[in-house]
Amino acid sequence: MSKLVIHAGNKKSRINKEIYGHFSEHLGRCIYEGLYVGENSKIPNKKGIRTDVVKALREMKLPLLRWPGGCFADEYHWKDGIGPKESRKKMINTHWGGVLEDNSFGTHEFLELCDQIGCRPYINGNLGSGTVQEMSEWIEYMTFDGVSPMADLRAKNGRKEPWEVKYFGVGNENWGCGGNMTPEYYANEYRRYQTYCRNYGKNRLFKIACGPNVADYNWCDTVMRIARPYMDALSLHYYTFENKWEEKGNATGFDEEGWYKTLKNALYMEELVTRHAKIMDRYDPGKHIALAVDEWGCWFNVEPGTNPGFLYQQNTMRDALVAGITLNIFNKHSDRVRIANIAQLINVLQSVILTEGEKMLLTPTYHVFNMYKCHQDATLVDSFIETKEVGIDEAKVPNLYESASLDPDGKLNVTINNLSVTDAYEINGILVDRRINSVKAEILTNEMGAHNTFDNPDVVHTQKFKNFKVTEKGIDFNIPPCGILHFTVE
Ligand code: AHR
Repeated sequence: MSKLVIHAGNKKSRINKEIYGHFSEHLGRCIYEGLYVGENSKIPNKKGIRTDVVKALREMKLPLLRWPGGCFADEYHWKDGIGPKESRKKMINTHWGGVLEDNSFGTHEFLELCDQIGCRPYINGNLGSGTVQEMSEWIEYMTFDGVSPMADLRAKNGRKEPWEVKYFGVGNENWGCGGNMTPEYYANEYRRYQTYCRNYGKNRLFKIACGPNVADYNWCDTVMRIARPYMDALSLHYYTFENKWEEKGNATGFDEEGWYKTLKNALYMEELVTRHAKIMDRYDPGKHIALAVDEWGCWFNVEPGTNPGFLYQQNTMRDALVAGITLNIFNKHSDRVRIANIAQLINVLQSVILTEGEKMLLTPTYHVFNMYKCHQDATLVDSFIETKEVGIDEAKVPNLYESASLDPDGKLNVTINNLSVTDAYEINGILVDRRINSVKAEILTNEMGAHNTFDNPDVVHTQKFKNFKVTEKGIDFNIPPCGILHFTVE
């Protein structure tokens, strides 16, 4: 029997709800078809935005949505996406499939989408190919409260009141698709661009600088050294492949080796956030600057027969485990990780929703986010679980992973992952400093490759869990293989 010890009285950092954020890029069928179908569509919509999708995202309590990219952000010129749709400038989406972008979804549509979902917008500005003036005017357009050239233009386009826009990214992946810059060059450019990102009226910007790719510790160190006084957050991008970038593996039809290699790669996130946070600690010991993991998730080969530039992939129990583990890692590092955005929301990479015409399905990853919403704005508490190694020779992983938090109403929520493909485990749960009045539990489990399809959309779903016993000291339970378990203790 393994021990799980939760010290509910040992309160740690706040788990910022923005850790549960998502990302929507002009890529494949994420924006068009996935979120936005236009007002004349037969698919039920409000102002062109799919009502079925909005309902599911509200249920999941999506807190933060990043837009318009990604690599697309550093090619995006926001003025092309405002005003009458018929006269909006068209462009070629060179990064993603070379398709025509008609700019019918722009600033007004995105901020309307956020209003409908009830989430905060995170806008990513163009530093790679845009001007300082362009970035500065975008912020004026969205947030200026009063009479100004951009506020007047906004009113002319149908929106008199300013929007509240807090999260603003100054460039994306500027070490790569955002301009192939050196860290020194980017850090200085960042200082210049952000100078003109103004706070208007009551609006207060939270500026996010482009941080490292994976383990580029030199980028992290250099940008912190040069630009630290001017930023609120530094980003980090890390994707999980089955092997590596050149051998991503398939989203379905994998074997046990593919399962364990992927989970081992997902666990690498813990080392990345620990080491980047250590560098940040040197420059910012008070932890004022957040680490924003604003792109993460599984990246597999596209589904056969689909456009390679559209990054459309299925989503199985393996994705669910990657999400469960990663969110537990973020919870445990929430003293520094205060923003995160899984890539991407719909029909692209590790999505929570897939659509096909008017059909929509919720993926296993959706069910994880829906389950873990209990941690949003809760307080992390100390927890420890006894583990042993499982897996194959090249990929050994701990069999169990967990995190625990106290929500504002005093409920204790514990989320536990069983990484084994085959084995269930008996757990002896001990709660320190905590009385138990009642316990509720739910589980997401299935065989490793299980996934939802448009013909069979409910193969993987969350179920009530009853296989536990409340004891004098806590809860004893049996967690099944490929399982994600959630206890709520009142
Ligand atoms: O999410 C897909 C792409 O991955 C993004 O556009 C880019 O920022 C990253 O390389």
